Amino acid sequence: MPKLTVNNEAIEYRMDPATPLLWALRDASNLTGTKYGCGTGSCGACIVDIDGKAVKSCQITLDAVEGTFVTTIEGLSPDRTHPVQLALIAANVPQCGYCIPGIVMAASVLIRRDRNPSDEAIAGAITNLCRCGIYPRLVEAIQRAAS
Ligand code: FES
Repeated sequence: MPKLTVNNEAIEYRMDPATPLLWALRDASNLTGTKYGCGTGSCGACIVDIDGKAVKSCQITLDAVEGTFVTTIEGLSPDRTHPVQLALIAANVPQCGYCIPGIVMAASVLIRRDRNPSDEAIAGAITNLCRCGIYPRLVEAIQRAAS
């Protein structure tokens, strides 16, 4: 059975090791902040932090994350005041909000390594899809969160 650390808690998932991490997080750990959007690796709604990298959890199986440290939106920001979240709120970025957890996870990984990300760096790191069209405000907010 795959063992990993999720939000600083050691967990052994008693599930088929071929299960996508997304479903282990949502169904077994009740970490429903990680969203299902497409299931095909296109939208980024399911992004979590795995060992410091932004990873689409619908595209990686439990056996592939054995021994890793996974952080979800709940672990990143238990009090919902991560700098990216505050900057998104200040700039009125979220509309329907469904894609926001995945965007916060991807942006948190970006600003940890780049404290002054260019528009191009943000476009390269934040490939999440948003049907509401928040992108112009999003870039500004991420730059504000990084500084
Ligand atoms: Fe994983 Fe869309 S649900 S990329």
